[in-house]
Amino acid sequence: MQYDMSKAWYERARQVIPGGINSNVRAISEPVPLFFERAEGSRMWDADGNEYIDYLLGHGPMILGHTPAPVIEAIRRQAARGLVYGQQSEHEVYAAELLRAHVPCAEMVRFSTTGSEAVHAALRLARAATGRAKVLRFEGHYHGWMDNIAWNQASPTAELGPREAPPMRPASEGQQPEDGANLLVLPWNDAALAERLFAQYGSELAAVICDPFASAAGVIPGEPDFLMTLRTLCDTHGTLLIFDEVITGFRVALGGAQEYFGVTPDLAIFAKALGAGMPVSAVAGKAEYMERFGTLKTVHAGTYNSNPLAMAGTVAALETLTAGRGAALAHALDMGGRLMDGLRDLSAEADAPLTLRGVGTVFSATFLPPNAQPVTDYRSARQTDYARGCALWIALQERGVQITSMGIWFVSTAHTAADIDETLNIAKNALAEVARG
Ligand SMILES: Cc1ncc(COP(=O)(O)O)c(C=O)c1O
Repeated sequence: MQYDMSKAWYERARQVIPGGINSNVRAISEPVPLFFERAEGSRMWDADGNEYIDYLLGHGPMILGHTPAPVIEAIRRQAARGLVYGQQSEHEVYAAELLRAHVPCAEMVRFSTTGSEAVHAALRLARAATGRAKVLRFEGHYHGWMDNIAWNQASPTAELGPREAPPMRPASEGQQPEDGANLLVLPWNDAALAERLFAQYGSELAAVICDPFASAAGVIPGEPDFLMTLRTLCDTHGTLLIFDEVITGFRVALGGAQEYFGVTPDLAIFAKALGAGMPVSAVAGKAEYMERFGTLKTVHAGTYNSNPLAMAGTVAALETLTAGRGAALAHALDMGGRLMDGLRDLSAEADAPLTLRGVGTVFSATFLPPNAQPVTDYRSARQTDYARGCALWIALQERGVQITSMGIWFVSTAHTAADIDETLNIAKNALAEVARG
């Protein structure tokens, strides 16, 4: 592949945009952050005209593939009628009703624009509802970049400390110790440690927040018993259980991870697939808590909250996804399942065995050393051979397949059986190259 145009744009960007990028995750790119011109269905084309089958999907939003016709049509219609009213529109009512119809915990809904700010709103609401300060989060889970939650996201192995009391580690320069002072952190999937922590802090805990698939830690779905333990502990101690479904929402099931696992949280956060590409997020939850927003005493605000353009797109996205009992999502799960099976088989043949975790629409495919311990949390995920994973990511990109640099694959409703076959042909050669070393 030639990347001359991307390289030229990147050089120009670096003069005016720090690092040449506008979100840090894009720094992990080869040979430079790529510039794109067009995307359609399962494909993207970069500034050099290179075509890719896309499994990055904007880091998750493009559940319907790129340029989904019903969403484009809905926003085109709305754009002609106004972009931002700073008032209400019917679209937000329809969107909230659609969420309520499909998501178990969603008795009421408030909309924002990004996942990070919806997390912020949910944490504030939990603290207001309980009159408590502390929040339990888990190592390696990503909940956005805000000061009071972006801790222990990606600690180096040497800084992990004891399992029962990991030292607090901010994600960024500029965060202050007091920002993390009300956070408690534990390894994922360890029910005994959660029970121990609740025994000590239960009466002070406002909330437990988790991404039920621990996507940022390498897609490590919660063990059902562990999630049930969290539910029980929260019930016993009057703590709110918050599922951050920014990745899992409308992707692992129409009702998100809460439907997938059969565990209903008190509050849940949605973004990404919710709007199929429109910038939109939501806090959804039980009415007894959500009503606090309605009292106006728990503040939730935003110029772009429920803007009619995003809401029109969201309604179209949800109608498309949920039509025919979720036939489109079932197709995406099926395509992704075939891809997972194919990758597993090919990697065994190539003598470069991949470990796959997740479901068809979001899974990780990474290399573990022989005799690795099972991956159950961020700590055990550190056994991953990241150098080999990067080699696969680059070998795939060179052959026209885009995945995330962390080895996470997203699959959309637009991916076809032909796309999967083509991808597996490409992956065969990429895996052979990785196996050769
Ligand atoms: C689980 C999870 N929560 C929250 C966020 C933050 O969302 P946003 O990037 O829209 O602020 C992300 C983003 O990737 C995420 O994966």
